[in-house]
Amino acid sequence: ALKIATIGGGSSYTPELIEGYIKRKDELPIKEIWLVDIEAGKEKLETVGAMAKRMVKAAGLDWEVHLTLDRRAALKDADFVSTQFRVGLLDARIKDERIPLSHGVLGQETNGAGGMFKAFRTIPVILGIIEDMKELCPDAWLVNFTNPAGMVTEAAIKHGGWKKTAGLCNVPIGHRKQAAEKLGIPEEDLFFKFAGINHFHWHRVWDKQGNERTQELIDLIYGPQEDSESHLKNIHNAPFHYEQIKDLGMLPCGYHRYYYIEDEMLKHSIEEFEKGETRAQVVKETEARLFELYKDPNLDYKPKELEQRGGTHYSDAACELIASIHNDKRTDMVVSTENNGTITDLPYDCVVEVSGPVTAHGHEPYNWGAFPPAARGIIQVMKGMEETVIRAAIDGDYGAALHAFTINPLVPGGSMAKTLLDELLIAHKDHLPNF
Ligand code: NAD
Ligand code: G6P
Ligand code: MN
Repeated sequence: ALKIATIGGGSSYTPELIEGYIKRKDELPIKEIWLVDIEAGKEKLETVGAMAKRMVKAAGLDWEVHLTLDRRAALKDADFVSTQFRVGLLDARIKDERIPLSHGVLGQETNGAGGMFKAFRTIPVILGIIEDMKELCPDAWLVNFTNPAGMVTEAAIKHGGWKKTAGLCNVPIGHRKQAAEKLGIPEEDLFFKFAGINHFHWHRVWDKQGNERTQELIDLIYGPQEDSESHLKNIHNAPFHYEQIKDLGMLPCGYHRYYYIEDEMLKHSIEEFEKGETRAQVVKETEARLFELYKDPNLDYKPKELEQRGGTHYSDAACELIASIHNDKRTDMVVSTENNGTITDLPYDCVVEVSGPVTAHGHEPYNWGAFPPAARGIIQVMKGMEETVIRAAIDGDYGAALHAFTINPLVPGGSMAKTLLDELLIAHKDHLPNF
């Protein structure tokens, strides 16, 4: 029987997770689900936790759902530990987005200046969780959803030494569904190969007859006569430059917009900033509405409104990965995992986000090889930036932090990098014990 602990259990995404477990009830012999939060999230935990209990009951299951602020009690003898916490909650994200934008710089919460600060706040916490896991559940799998998921997963594997870590994201799932829909071919009849790093990956697609369909999909999704389509609620749907994507020969991920058409994305973000409607501010209102719904003692299923969050299909990643490990299902999934030579352009010991079956012993990535020169340079810069962010987060090293800001493609270098870093350090000082 399985014990699953979820850190950040007060998240409004918890019903999504519970729904995913219920869908897989025949393959997951769950006995206990422990939702853990901290004092600041106590009310959210109680509200969404009660809702989780109702969902389990309505499904006729006898799973125990425990709500606790005691992380150690939750981790004790756990088989799977999933993480979905946000250090500083949405108010910290508002600062991550708004402070850079106040200087005319993108404040994206996972990729830009904001993402680097989310990493600074989060990495010490994940390493603390791993210290507890070493003592309380040494055989458990760590399923990390906490953003920036690539950097947090790399910190867990490489610096925490927790090899049984899988980093997950819903973005590849959306791209798979989009390709199937555009080609009019069922998803299971297509073969996908994704490679890159979290929120910065590309993919290629083949059909059952062995034909590559990537260029056709580029035409269908990003062609001149089509509206560019973002399937992500949190990313402004600005069109890519078709000729450039065509030249790339791979499908970009939604987040590539911040790089390939940075000026368009910045313009849009500044407009949101001026209206007081950055994504974090909008999400805060969505979250409040969701928790009002969750308070309804008759609501015992995931409400449609949760689809307004960027993380839809979250449970198709998290719960399927757990089912695939537990049953050695070998489901083909995209996971942030140790590179080990899968992408030859990147270090062996770094974490990459790639396709492959999920076995009882974890993810077995398909070999990808080298990127074309147009993608190689930027992914190496991005990985170097991530490694520098992780080092800064662990050592609290100001010089490393400044270096990361300087090389991040979304942050102008020189004095602007320093201005932003200094302002964000002050704004977030309560959550930065290492600095
Ligand atoms: P949220 O603001 O609701 O935070 C979730 C919970 O974490 C809160 O209840 C909060 O109190 C709790 N928390 C904060 N610090 C904690 C700590 N030290 N220990 C335990 N709990 C703590 O966040 P959200 O919007 O629901 O998102 C949750 C996380 O999941 C974020 O990090 C977000 O970026 C991530 N996410 C990732 C993906 C993905 O694709 N990987 C998709 C969706 C969300
Ligand atoms: C998804 C990303 C997540 C991110 C979320 C943001 O597309 O994969 O990593 O956390 O969007 O959604 P939100 O509703 O919080 O803006
Ligand atoms: Mn993601």
